[in-house]
Amino acid sequence: MKYVPEPFRIKTVESIKMTTREYRQNAIAEAGYNTFLLKSEDVYIDLLTDSGTNAMSDAQWAALQMGDEAYAGSRNFYDLEAAVQEVYGYRYMVPTHQGRAAEHIMSRLLIKPGDYVPGNMYFTTTRLHQELAGGAFVDCIIDEAHNPYSLHPFKGNFDLAKLERLVREVGPGRIPYVSCATCVNMAGGQPVSMANLRDLRRWTERHGIRLMLDNTRTVENAYFIQQREPGYKDKSIKEIVREICSYTDGCTTSGKKDGLVNIGGFLATNDEEFFTESKAQVVIYEGLHTYGGLAGRDMAAFAVGIRESVATDDYIRYRVEQVNYLGEVLTAASVPHVVPHGGHAIFLDAKAFLPHIPQEQFPAQALASAIYVETGVRAMERGVVSAGRNKDTGENYMPKLELVRLTIPRRVYTQSHLDYAAEGIANVYRLREQVRGLRFVYEPKQLRFFQARFEKIK
Ligand code: F0G
Repeated sequence: MKYVPEPFRIKTVESIKMTTREYRQNAIAEAGYNTFLLKSEDVYIDLLTDSGTNAMSDAQWAALQMGDEAYAGSRNFYDLEAAVQEVYGYRYMVPTHQGRAAEHIMSRLLIKPGDYVPGNMYFTTTRLHQELAGGAFVDCIIDEAHNPYSLHPFKGNFDLAKLERLVREVGPGRIPYVSCATCVNMAGGQPVSMANLRDLRRWTERHGIRLMLDNTRTVENAYFIQQREPGYKDKSIKEIVREICSYTDGCTTSGKKDGLVNIGGFLATNDEEFFTESKAQVVIYEGLHTYGGLAGRDMAAFAVGIRESVATDDYIRYRVEQVNYLGEVLTAASVPHVVPHGGHAIFLDAKAFLPHIPQEQFPAQALASAIYVETGVRAMERGVVSAGRNKDTGENYMPKLELVRLTIPRRVYTQSHLDYAAEGIANVYRLREQVRGLRFVYEPKQLRFFQARFEKIK
């Protein structure tokens, strides 16, 4: 098991609380068996998400002091715009407070009621904004993505035959854009290959359909291309990132992941008219187009983070290999999880982990609770609770993948934190028959996983 040593040293530390099992039993019951409702203070190792949980560098903290908090025309906006142009290569950029705000603006502008938006698997906020704009998401990812044990090296790839079928059924006029995510989150952080992107580009051009990127984890995706795809091992991460973006017409981005910040996002495009319309929308929902809901200092740290993420290949190698290390330790303990290991997280297979709990009783939700009680580690459900209900029929979506995500914040935890987490999870696996299913006591209408409450089934 290889652990790539950290390409940084620690300058500031933050204490974290050690708690007892009894304390945690009470805490999770009070949180309605939903790890989103736990107090962060009651968590020992927080693997809920890699979103906004990054540790910033000394250069980023220094940049905060250089915030220009002018309402209009902040210098940090121009610097962020330059970083986006340099690293991702898009001509125009509209800042937003985070990724879903960019998704909101893009969906409102591009989708008409009755439209279809094909994508490589859904993401929660992305699909919701498509639906709120009157569109319907259509899953066009390859079948292997739905199989947690398929060893396909690029399980994020599109199946072009599925796209072709959709265009034949509804016509290209009903498809405003194809939504392509890098390191597909809900598939287990699985990358898309450059060859697939190139094919996708050709296909969208042939049909006169836009190709929009969910650029949230492009740097991590670039590392997999460098490692796995013929012709890329001598290319830098920076070059690969630029090439990925070059096949697309624009993107939405959550800077809270690859961007190495705690808050921030943007919408980018090469299309001047779409840019003008986006600026008109951002002032309604976020703030002036030169800050988009961010403080000047947030934009300053974001610009530094974007450049740092590709400055050398050392950071991203350490980052993705750290995730892989956790996966390898869990493999050695025979704990069932999605393979190949993804870029930002290890995803436990709750159906295989808890075969005695039917999917109607939320096995992944139950497993995330059990892991917290055993270890103080906070994970996230990514299964039937996250999938929600079909907006027309009201039926629960029953995703093939019923997963618990152990998400690794960037530059935050050490090897021994991961060893501790893995050991505790292996213990839960040994005692798995004691874990019981859950039922809803409160179910929000939208994005229910964030605030739902459950009770244990006797
Ligand atoms: N797209 C992807 C692929 C994401 O993973 C996220 C957020 C977003 C868009 C939305 O960005 O949070 O900045 O508004 N994912 C977080 C997660 C919440 O935990 O996976 P946001």
